[in-house]
Amino acid sequence: MSQLQLNPLQPFAAEASGIDLRQPLGAEGRKAIEDAMDRHAVLVFRNQPLTQAEQIAFAKALGPLDMGLRKLKGGPHRFEYAELADISNVKVDGEVADRQHAKIVGNVANQLWHSDSSFQKPRAKYSMLSAVTTPSFGGDTEFADLRMAYDALPGWLKKQVEGLSALHYALHSRFMLGDTNYTDEQKQAIPPASWPLVQTDPRCGRKILFVGVHACEIEGMTLAEGRMLLMDLLEHATQREFVYRHKWQVGDLVMWDNTATVHRGRWFDLAERRELRRATTEEVAA
Ligand code: OGA
Ligand code: MN
Repeated sequence: MSQLQLNPLQPFAAEASGIDLRQPLGAEGRKAIEDAMDRHAVLVFRNQPLTQAEQIAFAKALGPLDMGLRKLKGGPHRFEYAELADISNVKVDGEVADRQHAKIVGNVANQLWHSDSSFQKPRAKYSMLSAVTTPSFGGDTEFADLRMAYDALPGWLKKQVEGLSALHYALHSRFMLGDTNYTDEQKQAIPPASWPLVQTDPRCGRKILFVGVHACEIEGMTLAEGRMLLMDLLEHATQREFVYRHKWQVGDLVMWDNTATVHRGRWFDLAERRELRRATTEEVAA
């Protein structure tokens, strides 16, 4: 029997306790976490500061890692391991980056609602973010439930979106923020991925409305009409009733399902240090 305990957090997430993430998960532990993720889509583990190696080991126990995320620009890596994404405003020399630094736009782009790596196939499955340093104010992360979003669509809109697919492009959110200085080679490095707007979540079996800021066009529609529909759907999907807001404490590990949810960071003062580390697993075809 796994020791995993769950305490629901409104409206869909759960605080998870009872297991030490530094210990090998084992088949039962993995099953318990997967079942909890199928239900809650976001799990919050408090007081579990992990070393880089421990975080990677925990992630690997849940599936193959998504290594695609380091293709975007952002400068050299600060960590011992390429498996981890540096979600921070800190430079390689350990100092807080100034606002003009290339990596800052990534911090800002993370404040737009998205699903990690939805611009690639296979897409991200679970992301696991570990909090190392938190700012004195702000910098929360919000998660919206795409299953609740689908269920709450009015009937006419369910009909309208059924059968439509959107293209998700890695640089769209950067372009939106005015970060357009990329070579053709960089622009083509990650070609867009097409995903149906309505999908049956492969794990929990519920229907989801798969939207987010990487979606930039609806196939078969004009750009204008498609973008308008995508913006309307994202606004619908991220209304307060479907959102869990996480206030970070150092040592938190939050994991989320990138199919069932979208997420975004919230404002913090970029002059203050904020450091999180992310490991992400890849979706594996069933
Ligand atoms: C991420 C992300 C948001 C945040 O790590 O994938 O989007 O609040 N983070 O830092
Ligand atoms: Mn993200």
